[in-house]
Amino acid sequence: MQSLLNDHNYRYHVLDEPSIEDAEYDQLFHELVKLEEQFPSLSKADSPTHRVGAPPQSKFNQVSHSVPMLSLGNAFSDQDMLDFDRRVRDKLELAENAVIDYAAEPKLDGLAVSLRYESGVFVTGATRGDGSTGEDITLNLRTLASLPLRLQGTDLPAVLEVRGEVYMAKEAFANLNESQRKNEQKIFANPRNAAAGSLRLLDSSITAARQLSLAVYAMGEVSPDAELPETQSELLVWLRELGFPTNRETAVCAGPEKCKAYYQKILKARESLPYEIDGVVFKVDPVNQQRELGQVSRAPRWAIARKFPAEEAGSIIDAVEFQVGRTGALTPVARLQPVFVGGVTVSNATLHNMDEVERKDIRVHDHVIVRRAGDVIPEVVRVDLENRPRRAKRIKMPLTCPVCESPVETPEGEAVARCTGGVEHCLAQRQGALKHFASRRAMDIDGLGDKLIDQLIEAELVQWMPDLFRLDADQVSALPRMGKKSAANLIAALDAAKETTLARFIYALGIREVGESGARNLASHFGDIERLKTASTEELVEVEDIGPIVAQSVLEFFASPFHRETVDALLQEGVRWPASVVQSEVDGNDELSQHLAGNTYVLTGTLEKFTRDEARDKLVMLGAKVSSSVSKKTTALIAGHSAGSKLKKAEDLGVEVLDDDALQELLKPLL
Ligand code: IVH
Repeated sequence: MQSLLNDHNYRYHVLDEPSIEDAEYDQLFHELVKLEEQFPSLSKADSPTHRVGAPPQSKFNQVSHSVPMLSLGNAFSDQDMLDFDRRVRDKLELAENAVIDYAAEPKLDGLAVSLRYESGVFVTGATRGDGSTGEDITLNLRTLASLPLRLQGTDLPAVLEVRGEVYMAKEAFANLNESQRKNEQKIFANPRNAAAGSLRLLDSSITAARQLSLAVYAMGEVSPDAELPETQSELLVWLRELGFPTNRETAVCAGPEKCKAYYQKILKARESLPYEIDGVVFKVDPVNQQRELGQVSRAPRWAIARKFPAEEAGSIIDAVEFQVGRTGALTPVARLQPVFVGGVTVSNATLHNMDEVERKDIRVHDHVIVRRAGDVIPEVVRVDLENRPRRAKRIKMPLTCPVCESPVETPEGEAVARCTGGVEHCLAQRQGALKHFASRRAMDIDGLGDKLIDQLIEAELVQWMPDLFRLDADQVSALPRMGKKSAANLIAALDAAKETTLARFIYALGIREVGESGARNLASHFGDIERLKTASTEELVEVEDIGPIVAQSVLEFFASPFHRETVDALLQEGVRWPASVVQSEVDGNDELSQHLAGNTYVLTGTLEKFTRDEARDKLVMLGAKVSSSVSKKTTALIAGHSAGSKLKKAEDLGVEVLDDDALQELLKPLL
């Protein structure tokens, strides 16, 4: 009966060809539920009854993707597509008149998921997360009616990971919001948010009640002995045969001209499609060509997303206010009459800076065109000058900070005006700096988002960075909408975040002009915070990629007693950077863990900056091999003082010899 129902599911959801009436299906389903209640041992993992949801979870576990989940590069014009096609052909070194076949698919606006099948049975489903590690949402995914719990066919690979998109059809979205409204529950801004929200529920019985759709389009990890189709287009056919839903609007386009026609066809059909898409994806069809093309950072060279143009709409500026960022920069923001554009209601738009305001001649009460693309902040594109009202008022930069009333300065030659109050005096800057400090790429304090930081400041529990580490669970749980459990989680997360890397710590301090890579360079050059604090301009400009402007900014930062005391207080609270944390940064980050893959090093002599063991550990972390004897296969010998026979052998064999500094350079991603 389980397989009978699974078969009906497939006919209904994948083939769109149901062979029984809905009522008949419901009847069968009901019988199966009763049977399984009576004989629980019959209830297999792939039984369709599991689709109704499981008991709520307290949190999601992490899943690491052994094959990373990639993102896509974007094309916004026909020219971008021609450039993409040229890059593909150049890289493949094909004849000038060669034509590439592209598999073309709509770009579904949902959430990427990875579905793992072992011997044909669905075992784990995960979100994309950062591409290397996602969240285990198996229970929620099980509730999707179109997700096969067991694959069709024989000879199924031991491991088969399939990637695809979970999305909500337009109609399902409308129904959901309708019922949310009736029940006075949260209204979702667009189908994408509704799908994301529904998949990230800890209570899968609620997910079961949401009508989510699935379409698969790519592979993840697959047992090495499995035989896979040789093109993307055939892959989709094969996946369908296995029982997966795939998109119906796919095609194969020979060369960029055909791609253009496909794009235009889908753009035209966009409104009438029953689900939302934000572009089309083109993938080099033959898998062997994909392999040859490879990937750059996190995107394949063999695929591209041709995005639809950003949506625009008209509105009126009611007022212009100035927001103060963490570095004191004042950004003019237009308060708009709410307008629906690009799938959400927009009531604020950035005007960037005063140069932009002047260039576009934007005034309060103007009729304007607003644009929103993807997840970016909406902006004012232009003013409808013909409809400028008499009372339209010029926008003026305030002379004092709207938050702390310190004077505002616009340094010569700069477009940006800044509040001179600094974090000591300006609450807005302090708020911004704290948010930056806690953020994922900085101290990565789990659960400490922008809203909670606002609450902590409001309740006067936190004024500045070190206060975060002095919080106790009772204080936190007394905040509105905070339970005992979340408070305990926050305290635990703060404790865990104290163990970090020097590079993250420097970045987290929010020194002007010092981004992530600058912080990494400073960390690797100085090795500790005390040396950085006292570094002179001359010493600073010696650091890779640190010029006079950044050096000046670092110097000014540490010249301030307030900042020096902040650093001391943070160390006092237990912030530290042990070597073990560096290891966990590398785990799950294939860019780092594969950095030196394929290279073999030999260490000899006395190194200055590391012991040989440390050096070995670090090289291995980055994916290199470390061997004890020099051979022709050795990539390089790393030789410290008093190197002996190995150095001679390396020289005899013509193997490259590296010194301490060169080693430091190799290990830089870890420092
Ligand atoms: S392929 C290596 N195909 O777009 C290939 N992605 O910007 C990676 N998406 O994370 C993805 N429809 O969530 C692919 N037909 C499609 C897609 C698609 C939607 C999403 C997916 C991915 C994002 C990349």
